[in-house]
Amino acid sequence: MAKPEPDAEPAWRRARQARVAARIHTVADARRLAKRRVPRPVFDYVEGAAGSESTFAANHREIEAVEFRPLVGATRPPLGPDISTTVLGAPISMPLMVSPVGFTRMMDIRGDVAGALAAAAAGTGFTLSSMSGHEMEDVADAGASPSWFQLYCLGGRAGAEQLIDRAQTAGYRALVVTLDTQVPGNRERDSRYGLSPPLQVTRETVMKMAPHAALHPWWLADLVADRFQLDLVNASGLEINGGHISALEALMHWVGAPPGWDDFGWMRDQFDGPVIAKGVMTGDDARRAVDCGVSAIIVSNHGGRQLNSAPATITALVDVLDAVGDQVEVLVDGGFRRGADVVKAVALGARAAMVGRPWAYGLAAAGEPGVRRVLSILREDIDRTMRLIGASSLGELTPEFVRLPR
Ligand code: GLV
Repeated sequence: MAKPEPDAEPAWRRARQARVAARIHTVADARRLAKRRVPRPVFDYVEGAAGSESTFAANHREIEAVEFRPLVGATRPPLGPDISTTVLGAPISMPLMVSPVGFTRMMDIRGDVAGALAAAAAGTGFTLSSMSGHEMEDVADAGASPSWFQLYCLGGRAGAEQLIDRAQTAGYRALVVTLDTQVPGNRERDSRYGLSPPLQVTRETVMKMAPHAALHPWWLADLVADRFQLDLVNASGLEINGGHISALEALMHWVGAPPGWDDFGWMRDQFDGPVIAKGVMTGDDARRAVDCGVSAIIVSNHGGRQLNSAPATITALVDVLDAVGDQVEVLVDGGFRRGADVVKAVALGARAAMVGRPWAYGLAAAGEPGVRRVLSILREDIDRTMRLIGASSLGELTPEFVRLPR
């Protein structure tokens, strides 16, 4: 498969994206510019969460409610804090990785390839969603390290086996098994545009969005140039019982039999590398995950997109760390919008935080340059926060540096 070249894109497109990216100074800016560039149904897919969206709101609010307890006056090396770390043995330049996001090709036609190139440029890892519009090999070739593959059992076990084989051959270092998607969440915003579960974005759905799309001609021009390639390419063509199934059939198999704890032994046999459980929200489930032999846990409520009224992620992080923090690496996503947020999670004991919407906002606003900008803003704020609280390396961060709300 040809290596995706960052500059294979027309120069005018990159220049346009660079101009927009230069206007991003915060994740909130990326969100605002994304909202302006893409049609409302696309923005609402990114932004929307389940039900009343109270869990989505609580994720960030509860991180903000954690206070720092800074140390001042210590002499620090002039080079500044060391914010590099490792996840499952792989070095990353900061304690922040990229979470899987579905359907990124409708946000920007370079989708996950752009995201992985930006993560590679930032020296951090990228997790590819099963719901990608790009071939998993092309995304792996973008060179993010580590590259993880988020597995939905599309096409049931038989389909998953093929996805796992491909992920292994393409060089993905870990499998991320999402456990909170037993059924699609109640995404009320999506249902307004006829985007009912299992979500499929096709040429027809885009045509249904036509009145919205017409208001966003640059976005539409890109999709036309890309020939509306919005299929879930890794989900389609899986071979089941001697025949090839469509992406929709693959989705139906998965919705009919979501993965559970008893699938982990089988997954560990199939994949030669670490298996990570994503979507764990309680200490009891964290212990179960460890009993099933997972190498890491991602505390996540799917950005509030699945079960509304689930706890905020920072609260769940504390429970999970209490239960298994000394046995496996624990990561967390959901609500992280600033570098300071990331430092709080690491101080509490997380190995790293992960971001989903922030990179999707950057992507929808300004493609790869937009994602690069978001990651570099987060990095700068991690560095600045470390200096302000008086920690010179991540190893020095302890819960003593933070105060949880009463
Ligand atoms: C997919 O996993 C989504 O949250 O839309």
